[in-house]
Amino acid sequence: MSVHSANKRLMAPDITAMKGQGPIVALTAYHAHTAAIADRYCDFLLVGDSLGMVMHGYETTVPVPLELMIMHGRAVVRGAKRSLVVVDMPFGSYEESPSVAFRNAARVMKETDCGAVKIEGGRRMAETVRYLVERGIPVMSHIGLTPQSVNVIGGFKAQGRSKEQWAAIEEDARLVAEAGAFAVVLEALTEPLAQRITAAIDIPTIGIGASRSCDGQILVLEDMLGLSPRVPRYVKKFGKVGEAIEGAVRAYAQDVRARAFPTPEHTYAMKGAQTRTPERVGAAQHKATKKPKTPSSKG
Ligand code: KIV
Repeated sequence: MSVHSANKRLMAPDITAMKGQGPIVALTAYHAHTAAIADRYCDFLLVGDSLGMVMHGYETTVPVPLELMIMHGRAVVRGAKRSLVVVDMPFGSYEESPSVAFRNAARVMKETDCGAVKIEGGRRMAETVRYLVERGIPVMSHIGLTPQSVNVIGGFKAQGRSKEQWAAIEEDARLVAEAGAFAVVLEALTEPLAQRITAAIDIPTIGIGASRSCDGQILVLEDMLGLSPRVPRYVKKFGKVGEAIEGAVRAYAQDVRARAFPTPEHTYAMKGAQTRTPERVGAAQHKATKKPKTPSSKG
């Protein structure tokens, strides 16, 4: 986290300016509460369409509707104060033509108050990137493995593993950079290719499964927290949140079945009755810790 000031929210050009200044840190976020935490440590937050798989149980990101992205985008913008918030344009909302892309991206910007959108595709989307940027919409591009094309690719497969694929992927990066993208996500690429692309273009490369040779890194928050049941091999689990949730839910269920929860401490009392509400118990405990007055100190 480098250029944050206490009050200013980062904007797309701030992220571009971070190229060569040290790694850019990003995570996905889908809710206000996790966005508020991630916001303290990240330069940008992505409301990824991965939310369709992570939160809504879809097999791929293809079915995700625009309305869902807007709803989660709004929540993340409300939760995050300093990071740039980027919202993914879902499959079907931008590919048809630059003007369709503009209409939908403008809706995302207006209804979520986010600072940028992300679209998948290199060469095939370069004209759309230019069209959006010229009309006031900052665009993050996404190349390499583009999950919205999973049905064409035939699975979530790493890209650029043979040298013959390199030229086309490098060209994708160059064309979206020339078209005005402020950064580009490189997904599931080998390190030598990510290194070549990072050196070849003047916008930051943000890697996900694309090695440490990128200008920044992003992971799906639930994956790195240890909450997702299955994760790609490039994910490092920084937490055991799934286990923590399971432990808490198990303890709750046991307490409820044993009638050990709720106790009077968690129960509202009638006005004037002896049983105290939690707030009153707290206040009473606070008073009890005070030194009792002696008769002489009463004056
Ligand atoms: O949707 C998403 O979470 C993404 C990341 C994989 C970059 O696009």
